[in-house]
Amino acid sequence: MTHAPFTLLHHIGAGDLPSDNGAVFELRSPTDGALVGRVARGTGFEVDLAVAAARAAFGAWSTTPAPARGEVLFRAALLLQARKEAIAEVMAREMGKRLEEARGDVQEAIDTAFYAGSEGRRLFGHTAPSELSDKMGFTLRRPIGVVGVITAWNFPVAVPSWKILPALVCGNTIVWKPAEEAPASGALFAQTLWDAGLPEGVLNVVHGFGDEVGAAIVAHPDTRVLTFTGSTPVGRSIAEIGGRMLKRVSLEMGGKNPVIVMPDADLSLAIDGVLWGAFGTAGQRCTATSRLIAVGDAHGRMLGDLVRRAEAMRLGDPLDAATEVGPLVSEAQRARVHGFVERAVAAGASLKCGGSIPTSAALGGGWFYPATVVDGVQRGSELAMSEVFGPVLAVIRAADFDEAVEIANEVPYGLSSSIYTRDVNAAMRAVHRLQAGITYVNAPTIGAEAHFPFGGVKDTGNGHREGGWAPYEFFTELKTVYFDYSGTLQRAQIDNREG
Ligand code: UN1
Repeated sequence: MTHAPFTLLHHIGAGDLPSDNGAVFELRSPTDGALVGRVARGTGFEVDLAVAAARAAFGAWSTTPAPARGEVLFRAALLLQARKEAIAEVMAREMGKRLEEARGDVQEAIDTAFYAGSEGRRLFGHTAPSELSDKMGFTLRRPIGVVGVITAWNFPVAVPSWKILPALVCGNTIVWKPAEEAPASGALFAQTLWDAGLPEGVLNVVHGFGDEVGAAIVAHPDTRVLTFTGSTPVGRSIAEIGGRMLKRVSLEMGGKNPVIVMPDADLSLAIDGVLWGAFGTAGQRCTATSRLIAVGDAHGRMLGDLVRRAEAMRLGDPLDAATEVGPLVSEAQRARVHGFVERAVAAGASLKCGGSIPTSAALGGGWFYPATVVDGVQRGSELAMSEVFGPVLAVIRAADFDEAVEIANEVPYGLSSSIYTRDVNAAMRAVHRLQAGITYVNAPTIGAEAHFPFGGVKDTGNGHREGGWAPYEFFTELKTVYFDYSGTLQRAQIDNREG
């Protein structure tokens, strides 16, 4: 299927516009290198315009009743449902995610839109009695202002929806830089909000690169809130700049997610889970299963089947329903992934399958990399400790449960984790002891649902959570109200005391 390349502009205030300096960048398909589109390449100039538009829109949007803000999100959810297939196809073409998974990405945004829309009728505060008579206290959630949103390419619609939709229902306005590798599906997501009746200036999109557009969003004095998904080094620098400027900053960064398989586990279930967790989205998820920690004889009993099935996984066009592993997002990303495997093998680990760059006529034009299993990975080695962001599973052996948990916890990250076992005591001990924001029992490390908090500990985050009920606290300021209806001066801490 060939498609005419599209042209993508910024969307600032009421309309679409090119970059002031005329700059564009080309978006090429990771599947075959075909030109997918030309995208306006923004600078600080466009960011200034977008922030000004967002500031101008804040007054009216922040005073629109929250249930009415929520209704815009419901309408956007219905539009996303109607356009799901079209958005998924664009996503698959521009960043290489398999069509089935691209549909899931859009579905996650639909789920988030319904959840966030309904939050317009909650945004609960607390009420509490006062220590004085005829007086009470309560809290309100107030919008903050302009939110700067910077997102990664691997979930071009779902992850932005986690940030943008809660921020909107809370009454904030937004400047968003979608990832430069997946700007078109992001723009289609934004279009559903504009078509749903979001007033002009409430959501502004500036396309471009991190050092040109992202940095300007972070440093702008009027973006009071920053929310970022991407690498730990970039997140750290956003936190530094945001910290100096007293901004509120939410960061969601890397992972090195383990699946522990105990000897008593249902091993065929564990193999299904590890394959899906490690090779779904070609391993390009923050939640990807990148370590299999096989305990005792689980290793010998599962490795053969695991490797056979990984080896059989079909690489190919993400738009082809028979494909099991699509391409990686870029040549640079593939070179990085391959480098990890080469260095692990050079250091003595044992390559069980994959590990080489395909050269066939069908695959040679894209950034394909096969499902790769590396056994005998040493604790503390690079492949055991670093995030790969590709279809590479490191297999590490552990003698028992305690050692497995120790291995699971010895990485700098703590996003997702999993244990396969039939022993309820081991499962619950793992739930408590694994240092991660998310723990699955008898399920792989991927598959977070929109209505539960998502985020991680240690170098994965800075203490915030997206998803579920958590972001409504992040995107609002708490106002405490004391309401004295006694008609007298009542002094707290003094007038309610005997002496
Ligand atoms: C990410 O990789 O940034 O749980 C998000 C999952 C998805 C979200 C992943 N629902 O894998």
